[in-house]
Amino acid sequence: MILGGAAEAREIQLGHTLSDDSHYSVGADAFKETLEEVSDGEFTVREHPAGSLGGERDMIEGLQIGTVDAVITSTGPLGNFVPETYVLDLPFLFRDYEHARSVLDSEIGDDLLAKMEPHNIIGLAWSENGFRHMTNSRNAVQEPSDVDGMKIRTMENQVHMNAFEELGASPTPMAFPELFTALQQGTVDAQENPVTVIVATKFWEVQDHISLTGHVYSPAAVLGSGVLWSELTEQERDWFNQAAQASAEATREEVSRLETEGLDLLRENGMTVVEDVDKTPFQNAIEPVYESFKDEYGTEMLNRIQNFE
Ligand code: PAF
Repeated sequence: MILGGAAEAREIQLGHTLSDDSHYSVGADAFKETLEEVSDGEFTVREHPAGSLGGERDMIEGLQIGTVDAVITSTGPLGNFVPETYVLDLPFLFRDYEHARSVLDSEIGDDLLAKMEPHNIIGLAWSENGFRHMTNSRNAVQEPSDVDGMKIRTMENQVHMNAFEELGASPTPMAFPELFTALQQGTVDAQENPVTVIVATKFWEVQDHISLTGHVYSPAAVLGSGVLWSELTEQERDWFNQAAQASAEATREEVSRLETEGLDLLRENGMTVVEDVDKTPFQNAIEPVYESFKDEYGTEMLNRIQNFE
């Protein structure tokens, strides 16, 4: 409808699973601010935090059918839709934040984003969740034998489930919105997430120990709906790309801040923090996951990431 010469604003529905003071919310705010500004009000953005549109798998499905316009999500359930992204979920793949961020900002990251479009998902930008660490309410984890038989919630991701099986744990895949209650009720003993998420979700209320295993880097992706995309002009697509870029930058900044300040918060709230975890035995234990990954998906993308300087 035309009102006073200007088209009525289109409201974009943007979902994510974390609280409205999380790093994803910082990213969602930046997305909103940028899109509304560069489009001069042609688009407005309504944020739906805290899983109010469902878990990450539900929201990705929503993108495909056009019931959700944009989502900030980990790669947890993404491989179920775009198997090429499973490579990013391999434990101990990225050496540190610099390695992860520069790979995702390179042609490698662009190639992976491009793999999403045939599935009606538009990969707009690589954002960030952070290096994942294990928390639990059973015992402090220092070595693989400490997780023996531990019921650990994993994301709905086959690579992660295989890795925890190799470690001797008992992985239970579950959508994130169900996790807090599952920990509270003892359905699972443990979970793994970056410091950012542990802080935003106040997991200290239901978990006693955190071990800085840093066993896998968890990227986040800013994704758009293929249905929405097919209705946009080139200029409008450019506005969405700018908004996603601003979102990713703001989120990474917040992750960096929480990586240093978050641990103090966890201690203040009573968690024991095991900092000096030797990663080598964990790395050795999950080696078979690499072998089965290579058998199924080949080595090309894996080599590109491992050899990236
Ligand atoms: O554990 C997960 O499912 C993800 O890390 C989370 C917390 C939903 C953030 O993307």
